[in-house]
Amino acid sequence: MKQVKAASLTVILAVSMALCLVARAAGQAGQPAQAGANQAVSAGNALFQQNCAFCHGRDAMGGETGPDLTQSRLVRSDATGEKIAAVVREGRPDNKMPAFNFSTQQIDDLVAFLRVRIAAAQAGGRRGVDPSDLQTGSVAAGMAYFNGAGGCSKCHSPTGDLAGIASRYQGLQLEERMLYPKNAKSTVTVSLPSGETFSGTLAYLDEFTVALRDANGSYHSWPTNQVNYKVDSPVDAHVKQFSKYTDDDIHNLMAYLQTLR
Ligand code: HEC
Ligand code: HEC
Repeated sequence: MKQVKAASLTVILAVSMALCLVARAAGQAGQPAQAGANQAVSAGNALFQQNCAFCHGRDAMGGETGPDLTQSRLVRSDATGEKIAAVVREGRPDNKMPAFNFSTQQIDDLVAFLRVRIAAAQAGGRRGVDPSDLQTGSVAAGMAYFNGAGGCSKCHSPTGDLAGIASRYQGLQLEERMLYPKNAKSTVTVSLPSGETFSGTLAYLDEFTVALRDANGSYHSWPTNQVNYKVDSPVDAHVKQFSKYTDDDIHNLMAYLQTLR
């Protein structure tokens, strides 16, 4: 595992990888020239969501029937991925963990995904530990970045949706919201061969199936190869920003956001 000194940088790395893969899992056209490592992580994320998430939770931090894998000693200490591979291939039949017949590639992808989840859990676990780190930025530079290079003002307003944000969230919690607005919903428009179109909240997407929930709450799904669809994920802007932020940008933005009380 890489040693990265600044807490915020750790958060960014972990969260940005996690987000890239979330974006990819949501089926957008991939970001240009993603590193191979990110592809493994995103493939691992897709596998995990389909096969493991309903027991271990979507973020691998534990679900109703499966333990938190980010805290598992076996997972954390598995430098080569062999122990994870063994559990996944053999299962734990006595303990309600099924066996999966995955290829080496698929296992490697899952391991890559779990590594990112561990890093993100570690970063999140630092909540409140280092608030002074979040006080080092320049409010003026943060405001300039917000309105300029960061492009934040295209979607946000300090007197509108972000008014009072610093009263709602503090410290690392605020930083996490900024880096990873996990509640933002993606929307999708599906066009059928007949010309009919449907729009709604993206409910499911993989290689084969696209599904949405419409304004009345009804669920519709189609085979992806029989329709055209376009996913609009507002969080994309946040994902793209990850590759551009410097540590100073983050600190300045945090200084600025913390004035919005
Ligand atoms: C039906 C529920 C279920 C599914 C699906 C499932 N698991 Fe598990 N998993 C469990 C349970 C329960 C345990 C704990 C078993 C035990 O206590 O020995 C476990 C344990 C594990 C462990 C060992 C953790 C440790 O510390 O010993 C790993 C690694 C793991 N699962 C990975 C996965 C992966 C990867 C997938 C998807 C490919 C997956 N699991 C799918 C229920 C599930
Ligand atoms: C293309 C539009 C877009 C851009 C550009 C954008 N955001 Fe966001 N942002 C969103 C959406 C959508 C959400 C999710 C809103 C929600 O969760 O209610 C969000 C959420 C947030 C949140 C959490 C708000 C909350 O109430 O939880 C913060 C903080 C934030 N963005 C900061 C920024 C900053 C700083 C930038 C610039 C570096 C930026 N955003 C750029 C669309 C955008």
